[in-house]
Amino acid sequence: MTSPNERIIIFDTTLRDGEQSPGATLNKDEKLTIARQLARLGVDVIEAGFPFASPGDFEAVQQIAEQVGTPDGPTICGLARAAKKDIEAAGRALAPAAKGRIHTFIATSDIHLEYKLRKSRADVLAIVPEMVAYAKTFTDDVEFSPEDAGRSDPEFLYQVLEAAIAAGATTVNIPDTVGYTTPSEFGGLIRGIKDNVPNIDNAIISVHGHNDLGLAVANFLAAIENGARQLECTINGIGERAGNAALEELAMALHVRRAFYNPALGRPIESEEPLTNIDTRQIYKTSRLVSSLTGMFVQPNKAIVGANAFAHESGIHQDGVLKNKQTYEIMDAESIGLQENQIVLGKLSGRHAFQSRLKELGFELSETELNKAFLNFKKFADQKKEITDWDLESIVNDQIQQPPELYRVEHVQVSCGNHAKSTATVSIRTPEGEEHTHAAIGTGPVDATYRAIDRIVALDYELIEYTVQSVTAGIDALGEVTVRLRHEGRIFSGHAANTDVIVASAQAYVNAIGRLYGALSAPTAATQKEVAKV
Ligand code: KIV
Ligand code: ZN
Repeated sequence: MTSPNERIIIFDTTLRDGEQSPGATLNKDEKLTIARQLARLGVDVIEAGFPFASPGDFEAVQQIAEQVGTPDGPTICGLARAAKKDIEAAGRALAPAAKGRIHTFIATSDIHLEYKLRKSRADVLAIVPEMVAYAKTFTDDVEFSPEDAGRSDPEFLYQVLEAAIAAGATTVNIPDTVGYTTPSEFGGLIRGIKDNVPNIDNAIISVHGHNDLGLAVANFLAAIENGARQLECTINGIGERAGNAALEELAMALHVRRAFYNPALGRPIESEEPLTNIDTRQIYKTSRLVSSLTGMFVQPNKAIVGANAFAHESGIHQDGVLKNKQTYEIMDAESIGLQENQIVLGKLSGRHAFQSRLKELGFELSETELNKAFLNFKKFADQKKEITDWDLESIVNDQIQQPPELYRVEHVQVSCGNHAKSTATVSIRTPEGEEHTHAAIGTGPVDATYRAIDRIVALDYELIEYTVQSVTAGIDALGEVTVRLRHEGRIFSGHAANTDVIVASAQAYVNAIGRLYGALSAPTAATQKEVAKV
């Protein structure tokens, strides 16, 4: 199936495996926003979720299939265990997509067979073709994954893959589920599959890997040299445990070192044809969006998208870069869209300028959303002289993340200092429309504010995470706050941005409380029924 001039397929699983990161839960609108940005980034396949897992996942996959899975958009994929109910849910959720893919999986390592599945190899060999064939009744595009392939017996793996392809799998994905393999081992595994699975040319070989030993990206690059043509990865490398292979690292490795990888795809070394469909100038923006919506910050020294990735601290390096950038830089900050952060708007900017800049940034807002965003923009522009693209993105993302306003912060006032006890007075409007005011003392102004809010809200929750980061440099930067609450094992997140971090903190907390309240008072009964049917 792979002709020499084919390029590398980028399969993004930020919304599925990435969302499995502890605490990275996203709501439907947040997932849709990320999916739209992934489409702008140029990914070939978006794994939008695991439709059978929950009504929320089902709805999110369905909505992404409908709105992002257009004929010229990416393929939309849904995950399903090798079980009829899972596959049917995925098939139904993906139905609106112009190009839908079902990704079905079952473990093949002896340890998973014995302890997790309690099945024999023969059982698995019977299940795989049956379930792949069943998935084919919903779509022609079926991907099969032998989970924990990295620790499976290669001879058994070859048999399973042959059976999956014979039953119609068009992509076979090789996961290093526990991030155990090394680059030469993983490359060897892919080579072994190419050499020993008789019908392998009827399918694309894909790779999926976790970063437990920090080797996921290196393993994928070795896999390309040995015949892999699809990479499953996530933005900022988020995912289970230590995460997945990072999309931005793979895309830039294949961009910067194109000449090195050209021969693996049968191209002349000097070929200028991109190896992937990724628009690298969208990388930074996508990274920021995912970080802001998931509340998972990017470490400063993270390759490609970390705050220090293009910073030169040592005098010798700075001197070299001033003389010739290439002395210490192997890629331009512009190539990942980093220098596009011009100051674009200020408090005198009109609605038209605001709207057209948002359009250029790829935001499609309804009239009502635009009016609301413009009001927010004006409010911020009064506090902050220069509004950059990142500020604009933060204002709009913040708005996207707001749950229906069930609780509203009406007033926050704090008093704090090194010789004062931090105190806060907070007024909150409740879903019943009543305004309540309480005051509290805390270890700091945020703690005092949260204690005051707790006195007003009669719900049971535990604050498990509080993070604040600034959107841009400078004393007047917007502060973005993400809060996570736990209620009976479920996590509810809240997010807010403001030039005043105490106000942002109060709003983020109240947004999370609003989400919890919404979930308690209105479970998604309609979808619950829908999924119960499968
Ligand atoms: O890590 C893994 O094995 C997976 C599979 C479902 C592909 O995520
Ligand atoms: Zn995984």
